[in-house]
Amino acid sequence: MQTWEELRQECLACTRCGLCETRHNVVFGIGKEDADVMLVGEGPGEQEDLSGIPFVGPAGKLLDDMLSIIDLSREENCYIANIVKCRPPRNRDPLETEQDACIGYLRTQTMLVKPKVIVCLGRIAAKRLIDPDYRISRQHGQWVQKNGIWMTAIYHPSALLRDVSKRPETFEDLLAIREKIREIHAKV
Ligand code: URA
Repeated sequence: MQTWEELRQECLACTRCGLCETRHNVVFGIGKEDADVMLVGEGPGEQEDLSGIPFVGPAGKLLDDMLSIIDLSREENCYIANIVKCRPPRNRDPLETEQDACIGYLRTQTMLVKPKVIVCLGRIAAKRLIDPDYRISRQHGQWVQKNGIWMTAIYHPSALLRDVSKRPETFEDLLAIREKIREIHAKV
């Protein structure tokens, strides 16, 4: 398997799909490289494209606040990545073909991090990683185990910025994530 550095170098030079033509930066991922918790968004927005760092815009600020409620942070104990590493123009949803071209990077990142829990941020990540028919409004907060990894999805922070009425249920989902992490830690 590739090392982190090999993977990063390959990803930073990627031309596997058309998003490479419009990107300013590849947004590889950030956080603890051996974290128990991995968070997966859909793809970079404008600020992320300009900085090369995931979740640094308004949604990122909210994400960091949400994580701090349950004692998680990118600096200390989680890893944050996206389904696609380059910004889709005008923040449109990443196409299936773009996701297919990029997903191998996330797979290798997951093999390197070896998370115990993966939290999908929003519909696109949940459909790709949990179930193609995933309905975020009905299924957020549910848990499934895949290849020994506990997986769940919550509303994307951008959705929570647009619609504050979704925040109370997301708060419950966050508490359940903290509980799941505690259970896992209690078992080892
Ligand atoms: N939205 C995402 O899904 N990912 C980012 O990195 C930023 C915004």
